[in-house]
Amino acid sequence: MTLTATRRHPIGVFDSGVGGLTVVRALRQVLPGEDIVYLGDTARVPYGNKSPRTVERYSLTCQRFLLAREVKLVLIACNTASAQALPALVADSPVPVIGAVEPGAASALAVTRDGHVGVIGTLGTVRSGAYATAIHARRPGATLTALACPLLVPLAEEGWVDADDPVAALIARRYLAQLFEADPAIDTLVLGCTHYPLLRDVISRVAFELTGRTVAVVDSAHAMAEAARAIIAPAGNGRGAPGRLDCFATDTSRLEELAPRFLGEPLSGFELVDL
Ligand code: DGL
Repeated sequence: MTLTATRRHPIGVFDSGVGGLTVVRALRQVLPGEDIVYLGDTARVPYGNKSPRTVERYSLTCQRFLLAREVKLVLIACNTASAQALPALVADSPVPVIGAVEPGAASALAVTRDGHVGVIGTLGTVRSGAYATAIHARRPGATLTALACPLLVPLAEEGWVDADDPVAALIARRYLAQLFEADPAIDTLVLGCTHYPLLRDVISRVAFELTGRTVAVVDSAHAMAEAARAIIAPAGNGRGAPGRLDCFATDTSRLEELAPRFLGEPLSGFELVDL
Protein backbone atom coordinates (compact mmCIF):
# COMPACT_ATOMS: atom_id res chain seq x y z
CA MET A 1 0.00 0.00 0.00
CA THR A 2 1.59 3.34 -0.99
CA LEU A 3 0.70 6.68 0.52
CA THR A 4 -0.14 8.12 -2.89
CA ALA A 5 -2.59 5.33 -3.54
CA THR A 6 -4.30 5.93 -0.21
CA ARG A 7 -4.34 9.74 -0.15
CA ARG A 8 -8.07 9.98 0.53
CA HIS A 9 -7.94 7.50 3.38
CA PRO A 10 -8.15 8.69 6.99
CA ILE A 11 -5.43 8.98 9.60
CA GLY A 12 -5.93 6.51 12.46
CA VAL A 13 -5.32 7.56 16.06
CA PHE A 14 -5.71 5.43 19.16
CA ASP A 15 -5.28 5.80 22.90
CA SER A 16 -6.21 3.84 25.99
CA GLY A 17 -8.91 6.47 26.57
CA VAL A 18 -9.67 10.10 25.83
CA GLY A 19 -6.23 11.64 26.49
CA GLY A 20 -5.29 10.93 22.87
CA LEU A 21 -7.79 13.56 21.80
CA THR A 22 -5.09 16.11 22.72
CA VAL A 23 -3.16 14.63 19.79
CA VAL A 24 -6.25 14.81 17.54
CA ARG A 25 -6.57 18.46 18.54
CA ALA A 26 -3.00 19.14 17.33
CA LEU A 27 -3.57 17.05 14.21
CA ARG A 28 -6.65 19.09 13.29
CA GLN A 29 -4.62 22.28 13.63
CA VAL A 30 -1.65 21.06 11.60
CA LEU A 31 -3.59 19.01 8.99
CA PRO A 32 -7.11 20.46 9.07
CA GLY A 33 -8.29 18.80 5.87
CA GLU A 34 -7.47 15.25 6.89
CA ASP A 35 -10.14 12.75 7.88
CA ILE A 36 -9.40 11.09 11.22
CA VAL A 37 -10.61 7.88 12.83
CA TYR A 38 -10.09 7.90 16.60
CA LEU A 39 -10.34 4.88 18.89
CA GLY A 40 -10.34 5.17 22.68
CA ASP A 41 -10.00 1.83 24.48
CA THR A 42 -12.03 3.24 27.35
CA ALA A 43 -13.23 -0.16 28.57
CA ARG A 44 -9.63 -1.18 29.36
CA VAL A 45 -8.13 2.15 30.44
CA PRO A 46 -5.74 2.70 32.20
CA TYR A 47 -2.85 1.06 30.37
CA GLY A 48 -0.37 2.87 32.60
CA ASN A 49 -0.36 0.32 35.41
CA LYS A 50 -0.67 -2.85 33.31
CA SER A 51 2.13 -5.21 32.26
CA PRO A 52 4.03 -4.55 29.02
CA ARG A 53 2.65 -7.80 27.57
CA THR A 54 -0.94 -6.71 28.24
CA VAL A 55 -0.34 -3.21 26.87
CA GLU A 56 1.14 -4.73 23.70
CA ARG A 57 -1.81 -7.10 23.27
CA TYR A 58 -4.39 -4.35 23.79
CA SER A 59 -2.51 -1.96 21.51
CA LEU A 60 -2.40 -4.51 18.69
CA THR A 61 -6.17 -4.96 18.83
CA CYS A 62 -6.63 -1.17 18.71
CA GLN A 63 -4.34 -0.85 15.71
CA ARG A 64 -6.06 -3.72 13.87
CA PHE A 65 -9.38 -1.95 14.37
CA LEU A 66 -7.94 1.16 12.68
CA LEU A 67 -6.26 -0.81 9.89
CA ALA A 68 -9.60 -2.46 9.13
CA ARG A 69 -10.86 1.08 8.45
CA GLU A 70 -8.08 1.47 5.88
CA VAL A 71 -6.16 4.22 7.61
CA LYS A 72 -3.07 5.45 5.77
CA LEU A 73 -1.12 6.22 8.94
CA VAL A 74 -1.40 5.24 12.62
CA LEU A 75 -0.66 7.62 15.49
CA ILE A 76 -0.22 5.98 18.89
CA ALA A 77 -1.67 8.82 20.98
CA CYS A 78 -0.74 7.07 24.21
CA ASN A 79 2.71 7.30 25.75
CA THR A 80 2.32 4.00 27.60
CA ALA A 81 1.46 2.10 24.41
CA SER A 82 4.23 3.92 22.52
CA ALA A 83 6.77 3.10 25.22
CA GLN A 84 5.83 -0.57 25.46
CA ALA A 85 4.38 -1.66 22.14
CA LEU A 86 5.91 0.41 19.31
CA PRO A 87 8.08 -2.39 17.79
CA ALA A 88 5.14 -4.83 17.79
CA LEU A 89 2.82 -2.21 16.27
CA VAL A 90 5.31 -1.29 13.53
CA ALA A 91 5.82 -4.98 12.72
CA ASP A 92 2.07 -5.52 12.48
CA SER A 93 1.24 -2.55 10.25
CA PRO A 94 1.46 -2.13 6.48
CA VAL A 95 1.25 1.67 6.94
CA PRO A 96 3.59 4.01 8.87
CA VAL A 97 3.19 4.14 12.65
CA ILE A 98 4.10 7.21 14.72
CA GLY A 99 4.59 6.83 18.48
CA ALA A 100 4.57 9.55 21.14
CA VAL A 101 8.00 9.04 22.69
CA GLU A 102 10.36 10.00 19.82
CA PRO A 103 8.50 13.25 19.03
CA GLY A 104 8.37 14.12 22.75
CA ALA A 105 12.08 13.47 23.17
CA ALA A 106 12.91 15.54 20.08
CA SER A 107 10.74 18.43 21.33
CA ALA A 108 12.54 18.39 24.69
CA LEU A 109 16.00 18.39 23.13
CA ALA A 110 15.01 21.24 20.81
CA VAL A 111 14.29 23.53 23.75
CA THR A 112 16.54 22.41 26.63
CA ARG A 113 19.31 24.88 27.42
CA ASP A 114 21.59 22.66 29.48
CA GLY A 115 20.43 19.15 28.58
CA HIS A 116 18.70 18.53 31.92
CA VAL A 117 15.34 17.02 31.03
CA GLY A 118 12.57 15.76 33.31
CA VAL A 119 9.84 13.39 32.14
CA ILE A 120 6.58 12.69 33.91
CA GLY A 121 4.25 9.91 32.80
CA THR A 122 2.55 6.70 33.85
CA LEU A 123 4.27 3.94 35.76
CA GLY A 124 4.51 1.87 32.57
CA THR A 125 6.10 4.67 30.58
CA VAL A 126 8.63 5.48 33.29
CA ARG A 127 9.50 1.82 33.94
CA SER A 128 10.04 1.18 30.23
CA GLY A 129 12.93 3.66 30.12
CA ALA A 130 11.75 4.60 26.61
CA TYR A 131 12.32 8.34 27.05
CA ALA A 132 15.82 7.79 28.41
CA THR A 133 16.62 5.58 25.41
CA ALA A 134 15.19 8.10 22.92
CA ILE A 135 16.90 11.10 24.52
CA HIS A 136 20.28 9.46 24.99
CA ALA A 137 20.23 8.17 21.40
CA ARG A 138 19.94 11.77 20.23
CA ARG A 139 22.12 13.38 22.89
CA PRO A 140 24.23 10.95 24.93
CA GLY A 141 25.31 13.65 27.38
CA ALA A 142 21.78 14.67 28.38
CA THR A 143 20.62 14.11 31.95
CA LEU A 144 17.20 12.49 32.11
CA THR A 145 15.10 12.18 35.27
CA ALA A 146 11.75 10.42 35.00
CA LEU A 147 8.93 10.18 37.52
CA ALA A 148 5.61 8.32 37.48
CA CYS A 149 2.69 10.58 38.44
CA PRO A 150 -0.35 8.28 38.44
CA LEU A 151 -2.71 10.70 40.18
CA LEU A 152 -2.51 13.22 37.35
CA VAL A 153 -4.66 11.11 35.00
CA PRO A 154 -7.78 11.04 37.23
CA LEU A 155 -7.24 14.73 38.00
CA ALA A 156 -7.39 15.57 34.29
CA GLU A 157 -10.45 13.39 33.80
CA GLU A 158 -12.18 15.07 36.72
CA GLY A 159 -11.50 18.44 35.14
CA TRP A 160 -9.59 19.75 38.17
CA VAL A 161 -6.97 21.31 35.96
CA ASP A 162 -7.01 25.08 36.46
CA ALA A 163 -3.71 26.71 37.38
CA ASP A 164 -5.26 27.95 40.66
CA ASP A 165 -7.06 24.70 41.54
CA PRO A 166 -5.75 23.90 45.04
CA VAL A 167 -6.03 20.11 44.69
CA ALA A 168 -4.27 20.06 41.33
CA ALA A 169 -1.54 22.36 42.67
CA LEU A 170 -1.06 20.21 45.79
CA ILE A 171 -0.69 16.99 43.83
CA ALA A 172 1.52 18.56 41.17
CA ARG A 173 3.75 20.08 43.88
CA ARG A 174 4.14 16.75 45.67
CA TYR A 175 5.26 15.01 42.47
CA LEU A 176 7.38 17.81 41.01
CA ALA A 177 9.18 18.40 44.31
CA GLN A 178 10.52 14.82 44.03
CA LEU A 179 11.58 15.42 40.45
CA PHE A 180 13.43 18.67 41.15
CA GLU A 181 14.99 17.18 44.25
CA ALA A 182 16.44 14.41 42.07
CA ASP A 183 17.80 16.95 39.55
CA PRO A 184 17.53 20.63 40.56
CA ALA A 185 18.98 21.63 37.16
CA ILE A 186 16.02 20.37 35.09
CA ASP A 187 15.19 23.14 32.61
CA THR A 188 12.73 21.23 30.40
CA LEU A 189 9.85 19.03 31.45
CA VAL A 190 8.19 16.53 29.09
CA LEU A 191 4.52 15.79 29.63
CA GLY A 192 4.96 12.10 28.84
CA CYS A 193 1.28 11.21 29.02
CA THR A 194 -1.48 12.35 26.70
CA HIS A 195 -3.68 13.41 29.65
CA TYR A 196 -1.16 15.88 31.02
CA PRO A 197 -1.47 18.72 28.46
CA LEU A 198 -4.72 19.67 30.24
CA LEU A 199 -2.64 20.30 33.36
CA ARG A 200 0.07 22.30 31.57
CA ASP A 201 -0.75 25.59 33.33
CA VAL A 202 -0.72 24.19 36.84
CA ILE A 203 2.43 22.16 36.13
CA SER A 204 4.25 25.22 34.72
CA ARG A 205 3.19 27.31 37.67
CA VAL A 206 4.27 24.76 40.27
CA ALA A 207 7.59 24.21 38.47
CA PHE A 208 8.19 27.96 38.64
CA GLU A 209 7.28 28.09 42.33
CA LEU A 210 9.63 25.20 43.13
CA THR A 211 12.61 26.40 41.11
CA GLY A 212 12.20 30.18 41.02
CA ARG A 213 12.72 30.11 37.24
CA THR A 214 10.77 29.25 34.12
CA VAL A 215 10.92 25.58 33.19
CA ALA A 216 9.99 24.79 29.57
CA VAL A 217 7.07 22.37 29.41
CA VAL A 218 6.69 20.31 26.23
CA ASP A 219 4.40 17.52 25.07
CA SER A 220 4.30 15.12 22.14
CA ALA A 221 1.02 16.20 20.57
CA HIS A 222 2.24 18.95 18.27
CA ALA A 223 5.43 17.09 17.34
CA MET A 224 3.38 13.99 16.48
CA ALA A 225 1.14 16.08 14.24
CA GLU A 226 4.20 17.57 12.54
CA ALA A 227 5.64 14.07 12.05
CA ALA A 228 2.34 13.08 10.41
CA ARG A 229 2.50 16.12 8.14
CA ALA A 230 6.04 15.21 7.10
CA ILE A 231 4.86 11.77 6.04
CA ILE A 232 1.66 12.65 4.23
CA ALA A 233 2.49 16.11 2.88
CA PRO A 234 2.86 14.90 -0.72
CA ALA A 235 -0.59 13.34 -0.59
CA GLY A 236 -2.99 15.34 1.61
CA ASN A 237 -6.71 15.14 0.84
CA GLY A 238 -6.58 18.27 -1.31
CA ARG A 239 -10.17 19.18 -0.51
CA GLY A 240 -9.53 22.35 1.46
CA ALA A 241 -12.59 21.52 3.60
CA PRO A 242 -12.36 20.50 7.28
CA GLY A 243 -11.79 16.79 7.64
CA ARG A 244 -14.22 14.34 9.24
CA LEU A 245 -13.61 13.07 12.75
CA ASP A 246 -15.12 9.66 13.48
CA CYS A 247 -14.72 8.56 17.09
CA PHE A 248 -15.07 5.04 18.45
CA ALA A 249 -14.74 3.77 22.02
CA THR A 250 -14.93 0.45 23.81
CA ASP A 251 -17.02 2.04 26.57
CA THR A 252 -18.96 5.26 26.15
CA SER A 253 -19.81 6.23 29.73
CA ARG A 254 -18.86 9.83 30.62
CA LEU A 255 -17.42 10.47 27.16
CA GLU A 256 -19.87 13.25 26.32
CA GLU A 257 -18.57 15.13 29.35
CA LEU A 258 -14.88 14.21 29.09
CA ALA A 259 -14.05 14.19 25.39
CA PRO A 260 -14.64 17.89 24.53
CA ARG A 261 -12.22 18.93 27.30
CA PHE A 262 -9.41 17.00 25.65
CA LEU A 263 -10.37 17.78 22.05
CA GLY A 264 -11.01 21.47 22.69
CA GLU A 265 -14.10 21.49 20.47
CA PRO A 266 -17.53 19.86 20.56
CA LEU A 267 -17.78 16.46 18.93
CA SER A 268 -20.71 14.55 17.54
CA GLY A 269 -20.32 11.47 19.74
CA PHE A 270 -18.62 8.09 19.98
CA GLU A 271 -19.71 4.85 18.42
CA LEU A 272 -19.44 1.92 20.82
CA VAL A 273 -17.28 -0.94 19.51
CA ASP A 274 -16.22 -4.34 20.84
CA LEU A 275 -12.64 -5.20 20.00
N1 DGL B 1 -2.93 7.50 27.65
C1 DGL B 1 -2.03 7.07 28.69
C2 DGL B 1 -0.63 7.62 28.38
O1 DGL B 1 -0.46 8.54 27.60
C3 DGL B 1 -2.50 7.53 30.06
C4 DGL B 1 -3.73 6.81 30.56
C5 DGL B 1 -3.48 5.34 30.84
O2 DGL B 1 -2.80 4.99 31.81
O3 DGL B 1 -3.97 4.52 30.06
O4 DGL B 1 0.33 7.12 28.91
